[in-house]
Amino acid sequence: MPVEPNATHIWWATPADLPQSLLDLLSDDERAKGARLRHEPERRRSVTAALLLRAALAQRTGTPPELLPIDRRCDDCGGPHGRPRLADSTLELTVTHSGDRVGVGIATGVPIGLDVEPLEQKRITEGMAGLACTPNEERWLDAHTGDAYADAFLRLWTAKEAVLKALGTGLMKPMTEVELDPPTGGEPFTGPVRSGVQAWLYRVDPGKGYAGSLAALAPLGEIHEHDGDALLARLAAVTS
Ligand SMILES: CC(C)(COP(=O)(O)OP(=O)(O)OC[C@H]1O[C@@H](n2cnc3c(N)ncnc32)[C@H](O)[C@@H]1OP(=O)(O)O)[C@@H](O)C(=O)NCCC(=O)NCCS
Repeated sequence: MPVEPNATHIWWATPADLPQSLLDLLSDDERAKGARLRHEPERRRSVTAALLLRAALAQRTGTPPELLPIDRRCDDCGGPHGRPRLADSTLELTVTHSGDRVGVGIATGVPIGLDVEPLEQKRITEGMAGLACTPNEERWLDAHTGDAYADAFLRLWTAKEAVLKALGTGLMKPMTEVELDPPTGGEPFTGPVRSGVQAWLYRVDPGKGYAGSLAALAPLGEIHEHDGDALLARLAAVTS
C-alpha cells in the first residue's frame, strides 16, 4: 500500500527471529546492539524494531533499507542509543517495544513519540505513581481499584512517556512536570496536554492487552496504522 506523504504512519509488529537476509540490512551499530543484548526477548525486540524502522522508511522514501542514514546519537552522551533520526530529512521518527509488541512511527515535520506497554498489573512497582503523577492525576487514579487501577495507570504512563519521547528528553524530564487531562471510563488519553508542555495525544491500537499512545508537538492530520509483520514478510520475500 503506498504511504501518503503528509499523514503520520505507525507500524506494529511482533518481535521475531528474522532471516539472515533481513539481518544483513541492519547497520553495524544496530547489529552490535542486538549482539550485546543477552536477554533473548529483548534482543528480538531491538532487532525487529530496527528492521521495522528501516522497512517503513524504505517504503516512505523509496531508498533501499540498508542505505538509509539513520542516526541514533544520544543528545546527552553521543552514544548510539538515542532517538532515531534520518539524516538530511524532515521526517520525524519514533520507536517503541515492550512485551510482544514493536512499534515505529514516521511523521513529516512534527516530532512524535510512540509508547507501548502490556496491560499487566505486575509492571507497576511501588512508588511508580508518585514518580509519574501530579496530584490531580493521582486523585483520578485513586478512584480506580484492582485491574482498573492497573489499566488506568499504564494508560497514563504510556501517554506521558509518549509526550517525553516526542520532546526528545525521555525520562530525563520528570513525568510530574507534564499534566494530562484524564479521560472518562476506560478511554485512552487524547487531545491537548493540559500543562507543562505543548503537545497533543492520539489514540493508537497496538493490539489486545496493550496500552499504546502517540504524542506530537503540533496537531497531526491523518494517522494510519499498518501491519508491520506483513511489511517485514514482504521485505523478506524480496531479499531472500
Ligand atoms: C526514551 C526512553 C523513555 C525509552 O524508554 P523505554 O522504556 O526503553 O521505552 P521504549 O521501548 O518505548 O523506547 C525505546 C526507544 O526510544 C528511543 N529513544 C531513546 N532515547 C530517546 C529520547 N531521548 N527521545 C525519544 N526517543 C528515544 C529509541 O529509539 C529506543 O529504541 P531502541 O532502543 O530500539 O533504539 C528512555 O530510554 C529514556 O528516558 N531515555 C532518555 C534518558 C537517557 O537514559 N539518556 C541517556 C543518557 S546517556
